[in-house]
Amino acid sequence: MATRSETRDRKTSSQTRSGRTNDSSRSAFSFGEGSAAGAAPLLGALAAGAAIGLGANWARKFLMQKSESMAAGNEWDEILKLEHKATLAKFDLLLATDDSDTGKRAALVKTIHYALNKHAHQEEQVVYPALRQANETVDADHLEHEHGYVKTFLYELENMEKDAPQFLDRVREFRNLVAEHVRMEEEQVFPHFRGELSEEQNTKITMLMNKEGMKML
Ligand SMILES: [Fe+2]
Ligand SMILES: [Fe+2]
Repeated sequence: MATRSETRDRKTSSQTRSGRTNDSSRSAFSFGEGSAAGAAPLLGALAAGAAIGLGANWARKFLMQKSESMAAGNEWDEILKLEHKATLAKFDLLLATDDSDTGKRAALVKTIHYALNKHAHQEEQVVYPALRQANETVDADHLEHEHGYVKTFLYELENMEKDAPQFLDRVREFRNLVAEHVRMEEEQVFPHFRGELSEEQNTKITMLMNKEGMKML
């Protein structure tokens, strides 16, 4: 057992003459007892960096959604039409690949997945609920039901070997489903609904849809 004087000697050896602790095991990232005051500037800098990062990310999403919205005249149905067109064009690129383009196929499937997720989120969170509120429940339910099959196709294509003999046939079937769904939205459901909306309601749906779209960027 150590005597009192030995214990005092040990304590003394771990301190400098100025009384500061001379503990070489404490790193610059040590936030333990006694380091709080020293860590405060570092924590502040980290928080500021995170805030700047978050702010920059928010600004990027805002600008992306804003530019898409402006290109479509800030009209929710025109924004959706633009997205339909862009996604169908990606399907056409995928259909133009051959079995040796496995990397390109995988990348395009990912791009289509991302685009359809964002698109479906906007419709399911804003447009279809607004349709139901306007007593267009049958159409809203039908369209949302089809989104379920879109997800099933995405699941299948993501997990299928990209040089599988049936790959392009499944892509073609998938594109046909999406094209038919898009036709119903663009030619029947959306124009009818749009005609029933006041300018104020229309602006509100566009604003809400852009807000949801930003979340998926
Ligand atoms: Fe849809
Ligand atoms: Fe759509």
